[in-house]
Amino acid sequence: MTKCVLFVCLGNICRSPTAEAVMRHIISQAGTTSQWLVDSCGTAGYHLGGAPDERAQAELAKHGITTMHRGRQLCKDDFKKFDYIFGMDEENFRNIKSLAPADNRAVLGLLGEYDKQGGKIIDDPYYGGEADFEEVYQKCLRCCQEFYRQASRDN
Ligand code: 4NP
Repeated sequence: MTKCVLFVCLGNICRSPTAEAVMRHIISQAGTTSQWLVDSCGTAGYHLGGAPDERAQAELAKHGITTMHRGRQLCKDDFKKFDYIFGMDEENFRNIKSLAPADNRAVLGLLGEYDKQGGKIIDDPYYGGEADFEEVYQKCLRCCQEFYRQASRDN
């Protein structure tokens, strides 16, 4: 059965497209791409149709990862389509929960809960610098690796 995971941040140009690209890379390396549906979106519609932030793309490129993602906004249908919906910070999480239908069955959580090094929040790097984008990448990598391990085991 296909496992469907959606990563959600505010603008869908920094954190969630990074998590999406990292997750795609992990499943591609594991040879399980056909078993997964992976996507990302924002709670806001600031960057609809836009490519990820150049700094996020540069950080991914340092690790040999590219992304074709284009910005989109979280919508009600996402709660039917995805098994897991992960926000990056408490504000994302509140906004995700407020859009969830009463009969929602998707698992809603913070991606950072999978970080074995602790720290549940993946901070917004938009007004930061290269080091902040690197931190986002490294945290997404640790979390997606652990989520992948647990989701693969659960099946
Ligand atoms: P993201 O970062 O939520 O990680 O994509 C942001 C991107 C854009 C804005 C805020 C956060 N913005 O205000 O345009």
